Amino acid sequence: MIETRANSKKLFIKTYGCQMNVYDSDRMMDALAPHGYETTLDMAQADLVLLNTCHIREKASEKVFSELGRLRELQDERRALGGDMMIGVAGCVAQAEGEEIARRAPVVDMVFGPQAYHRLPDMLARAEAQRHLHPSLKRAVVDTDFPEEDKFEHLPAAKKEVTIKRGLTAFLTVQEGCDKFCSFCVVPYTRGAEVSRPVAQVIAEARGLVEAGVKEITLLGQNVNAYHGVDDKGRTVGLGALAYLLAEIGGLERLRYTTSHPRDMDDALMAAHRDLDILMPYLHLPVQSGSDSILKAMNRRHTAAEYLDVIERIKTVRPDMALSGDFIVGFPGETDQDFEDTLKIIADVGYASAYSFKYSTRPGTPGATLGDQVAEEVKTERLHRLQELVNTQTTAFHQSCVGKTLPVLIERPGRQAGQVGGRSPYLQAVHLEGSAELIGAIHPVEIIGTSTNSLVGRLKAA
Ligand code: SAH
Ligand code: SF4
Ligand code: F3S
Repeated sequence: MIETRANSKKLFIKTYGCQMNVYDSDRMMDALAPHGYETTLDMAQADLVLLNTCHIREKASEKVFSELGRLRELQDERRALGGDMMIGVAGCVAQAEGEEIARRAPVVDMVFGPQAYHRLPDMLARAEAQRHLHPSLKRAVVDTDFPEEDKFEHLPAAKKEVTIKRGLTAFLTVQEGCDKFCSFCVVPYTRGAEVSRPVAQVIAEARGLVEAGVKEITLLGQNVNAYHGVDDKGRTVGLGALAYLLAEIGGLERLRYTTSHPRDMDDALMAAHRDLDILMPYLHLPVQSGSDSILKAMNRRHTAAEYLDVIERIKTVRPDMALSGDFIVGFPGETDQDFEDTLKIIADVGYASAYSFKYSTRPGTPGATLGDQVAEEVKTERLHRLQELVNTQTTAFHQSCVGKTLPVLIERPGRQAGQVGGRSPYLQAVHLEGSAELIGAIHPVEIIGTSTNSLVGRLKAA
């Protein structure tokens, strides 16, 4: 139980975007807990609302401004009742647009990027100090610097009580930022250069999570397989070697990582997949396009054949590896033939799942200056065709599991009484009849059917 203090203030964080933002939101909660903030699930009750934003596509970015409009109304309502509400914008839109957000939305008290979260209590104190000022004199506190110091070292350790609430599975950021500069992507600008957390820090955090009851950890990074943390002896450790170290933590039963870049699937990581049972046979390996000329224009720095070669190597060490990917349709200059090449690579790989997006021009990226933009209707049509193909593959993959017995980590009560739900090694949701006592462990489950996005199973006597 988290202690409720009489003078405690309520915090609401709304998280957009990728898993790294989910992790960051938890760490912001940890950072504010010692300052009297406890989280609420009701935005209208919050003394402080933080929007943890995503800048990856135009639509994602614009959501922030519509939310800020709604927040202004909530703030007015609270003020009418004699209360107040502070509002902060964090995350990748904050990093990309900084001061501009405060200009467009004066309701905002703080704007701060992902590398400044350890300074949040200090920013909050500065913003609070302005509360009594006349609105015309108030200035949003803006912090979008990329600091020299290690953010993670300055953030308080994940609190055990808070961690328990996070359940049986947890994210752990091991690497941040990106040096790859794909020509469509804002991440290198919003998250900065690639930084890997030291090995000891990662292990300590993983141990803490496991002690708090976590059974499955997903290591996170924009380029997680480019991880190169330093160990206590000053040696550089890659993701493969890190996986072996994490496998030694008693009680940790499953390990995943996301997102990987095809260029960084090295032999050590392949070996880890061959040797380590806790490393789950599910790999999210985005390729974006199946056309070499588009891959070149995207600055992905690999060809379609090289990608297929990586897939072949991984299947050699782990034949049951399920694959997932990301695709962009309608990158500038994408012809019908380029798009057909993308459908072809999808057909060749056979994905268990995939995420696909229409190309969205992002200001400041090299892609934004390219001519030959693809018409919106063409993008829509291509996206539909691609998604149809992927859906067929997902269904086929689910079907192929029927009749098999899979180890399922039972995580929660099911939607109906008497049911429980969990995940297969391949990250599929599995539902089955069973009592709540099953929750918290891995059980053998015979897959007896499928529904739209999940598997239906039956507990097998061990
Ligand atoms: N680091 C990861 C992906 C980060 S962004 C990688 O390299 O694969 C997640 C996904 O969003 C990308 O894989 C890409 O498919 C999509 N994406 C990124 N920028 C985009 C843009 N400008 N328009 C459309 N989709 C985009
Ligand atoms: Fe973006 Fe490319 Fe870096 Fe992934 S590898 S985060 S797509 S620049
Ligand atoms: Fe979005 Fe930033 Fe993640 S742009 S996808 S929240 S790294």
